[in-house]
Amino acid sequence: MTPPVEPTPDPPPRGAFVAEGVTVRFGGLVALDDVGLRVEPGEVHGVIGPNGAGKTTFFNVCCGFVRPDSGTLTWEGTQVEGLRAHDLAGLGIARTLQGVGLFAGMSALENVMTGAAVRSRSGFASAAFGLPRGRRDEQALRERAMQALADLGAAHLAPRYPGMLPYPDQKKVALARALVAEPRLLLLDEPAAGLSEGEMDELGDLVRRLTERMSVLLVEHHMDLVMRVCDTITVLDFGQVIAHGAPAEVRDDPKVVAAYLGAEVTGGSEIDTTSLDGGSAVTATKEV
Ligand SMILES: Nc1ncnc2c1ncn2[C@@H]1O[C@H](COP(=O)(O)OP(=O)(O)O)[C@@H](O)[C@H]1O
Ligand SMILES: [Mg+2]
Repeated sequence: MTPPVEPTPDPPPRGAFVAEGVTVRFGGLVALDDVGLRVEPGEVHGVIGPNGAGKTTFFNVCCGFVRPDSGTLTWEGTQVEGLRAHDLAGLGIARTLQGVGLFAGMSALENVMTGAAVRSRSGFASAAFGLPRGRRDEQALRERAMQALADLGAAHLAPRYPGMLPYPDQKKVALARALVAEPRLLLLDEPAAGLSEGEMDELGDLVRRLTERMSVLLVEHHMDLVMRVCDTITVLDFGQVIAHGAPAEVRDDPKVVAAYLGAEVTGGSEIDTTSLDGGSAVTATKEV
């Protein structure tokens, strides 16, 4: 008699990412005012809002660039506000930046390899920074980085240097670098900026596929993408949460229509300051 096949154990339960009461002031300007949200395991949670709403500031709080004046961030039960990117990476949180931020002097593959460095400092870091502990470590790292590129349909970019690549390809390399660390939470800051419609669709499909392995917090200006890929959306306006819920609920919320869609209709969001991060610098003159 054949013994019963052991069921494959379920993956360990993943925790939520919870922001509570997050407040950030820049001088007299309240960029975030008591912001809270909850990213459930395996969901894509969007943060949207018009220019100056506080999206980038919130993203920067989540990845440790900005320390909130008050409030907490909890990830899988651990308080993480104020932790640096490296420590967050060790806890399974990865991010991509709007400005891409690749190393110009390294090939795409080497750039992706640096993303794995955060996982195991003794092994991967030494390999990535040119101190191979052993050829096999280095080889394993290379293979994982190659796989991460291949998963994004970008294996052919491996030997290329970032400066030579078109922007959408640079973004793929940056995303592969974040994914090679096998995060359980991925923070994406305006990933659709600079992408064509077709590339955005591709990105949307990709983000949906990621949810099998991780939760995603997506700060994004493009309504189409957000509506299509997010399970839940939090809408910010002037630093406050004005709406929260499923895409359809949020889209029909009069407050959102007034604050966000209204601005888009009248403002031509993609070309004016709404989608530019430099907007921070410009609007900072509002500060008192
Ligand atoms: N470093 C900063 N110094 C001063 N004010 C800032 C800074 N960063 C952002 N702000 C201000 O905080 C508010 C929120 O900005 P931001 O988070 O960039 O909004 P969004 O990304 O939604 O456009 C804006 O009024 C902006 O001018
Ligand atoms: Mg922004």
